Amino acid sequence: MNQHFKPNSVAGRDVASHLHSQTNPKRFEEKGPLVVTRGEGIRVFDDAGKSYIDAMAGLWCASLGFNNARLAAAANRQYNELGFYHTFFNRTHGPATDLAEKLLALTGMKGGKAYFATSGSEANETMVKLAWVYHTVRGKPTKRKVIARDRAFHGSTIAAASMCGLTFMHREFGLPLPGFIHTLCPDTYRGKLDGESDDAFADRLAAELEKLILREGPDSIAAFIAEPINAGGGIIVPPKSYFAKIQRVLKKYDILCLDDEIVCGFGRTGNWFGKETVGFTPDMMALAKGLSSSYFPISAVVLAPEIYDAVNEFNKQGGSFGHGFTNSGHPVGVAVALEAIKIYEEMDVVAHVRKMGARLREHFDALAKKFPIIGDVRGAGLMLGIEIVADRESRTPFDPALQAGLTFDQIAYENGLIGRCMGDTLGFSPPLIVTEKDVDEIAERCEKSLKQLATYLAKS
Ligand SMILES: Cc1ncc(COP(=O)(O)O)c(C=O)c1O
Repeated sequence: MNQHFKPNSVAGRDVASHLHSQTNPKRFEEKGPLVVTRGEGIRVFDDAGKSYIDAMAGLWCASLGFNNARLAAAANRQYNELGFYHTFFNRTHGPATDLAEKLLALTGMKGGKAYFATSGSEANETMVKLAWVYHTVRGKPTKRKVIARDRAFHGSTIAAASMCGLTFMHREFGLPLPGFIHTLCPDTYRGKLDGESDDAFADRLAAELEKLILREGPDSIAAFIAEPINAGGGIIVPPKSYFAKIQRVLKKYDILCLDDEIVCGFGRTGNWFGKETVGFTPDMMALAKGLSSSYFPISAVVLAPEIYDAVNEFNKQGGSFGHGFTNSGHPVGVAVALEAIKIYEEMDVVAHVRKMGARLREHFDALAKKFPIIGDVRGAGLMLGIEIVADRESRTPFDPALQAGLTFDQIAYENGLIGRCMGDTLGFSPPLIVTEKDVDEIAERCEKSLKQLATYLAKS
């Protein structure tokens, strides 16, 4: 990275003027930023002209790569037609209507509604507020608490951050807010007891959830939120029977199921939505990222008819739904999302991701045979993780002081591969447009980086 950046360079001016998300301020001041100047398919280029394969699609989001001309043209067309209009006070425009219909059809939320916002965090917070309306209308206004899971990531606004199960999202801010509680993470690699089957593990997770509900009081709990496959917590695929068992408990206590599809949606896991991959039947779904391939800040909530009925019932005396964002249903955002979905359909995204995902998985399984530091390979579709360990047999992690995951990221970066470690789990979530050749190249650069990492760790 720009070790010797000059004060008047972009890097130097950036250090002087820009506070960055999820970045250590001191390290940033010393090292400066990676200045990304342009994109070409799955690759990005820095200000020295060096090219990188971004095997994380940015932040699990640029599913169609970094310079898709059709998305640019769709935005341009819409800017020339109607560059802004809002969706408050009975207003709409054709593209917003088209996208609402399309999302209901794709998600199978028959008779429901789509609501638009501009970020994943807002979509998740919108689901919480809708859950509160739902229970209030049904005469259960005390049902307010939300259960999320340890290691979950649901965003950065105050309630969304409270739903995160990651201490780095809480510690500076005195979060979580009261009323946001957490149950166990369904991590089959680290969470199972000795000799416990996946099914028995799922039983135990459901039993723990029930204990938590009974301890807090079922009349105090509004909703449970989960990603089908946890992305930011380390690519955690739950046991097969997990969601069925969890949902049985939630139903028993009249608790709504909120599905955070912000990473998993739009083909990422080898189905249109992650809920299909893991057998989850939610009452509401939050969509963002792949929705527009992140070419515009747009998100959506898709809600079941009963949730909409509650909003309607609450306002039957003439009040209005007291929620909304200036850019909800922004015409350019919805136009870009419609075009992105059209491209996903034309490329048969589900079939393509299954094929490319299986190829990348094969490469990673082969690497696991070569490198004893690989403890686990997991994921679905094009959302894969490699967990590295000090001892495979006992699953002993590396000493955190070694920063094994972070070191891999730095080595990979030098080798022109952008990955993303979550602790010692190396994440791979490339743009969904990857070809066989791209997948092979990601695996090659990964192998080269693992070799260097293993040498470094052996010396440490
Ligand atoms: C699963 C999940 N939910 C929610 C969010 C928050 O989305 P945003 O950053 O658009 O608010 C993210 C962001 O990475 C995410 O990964």
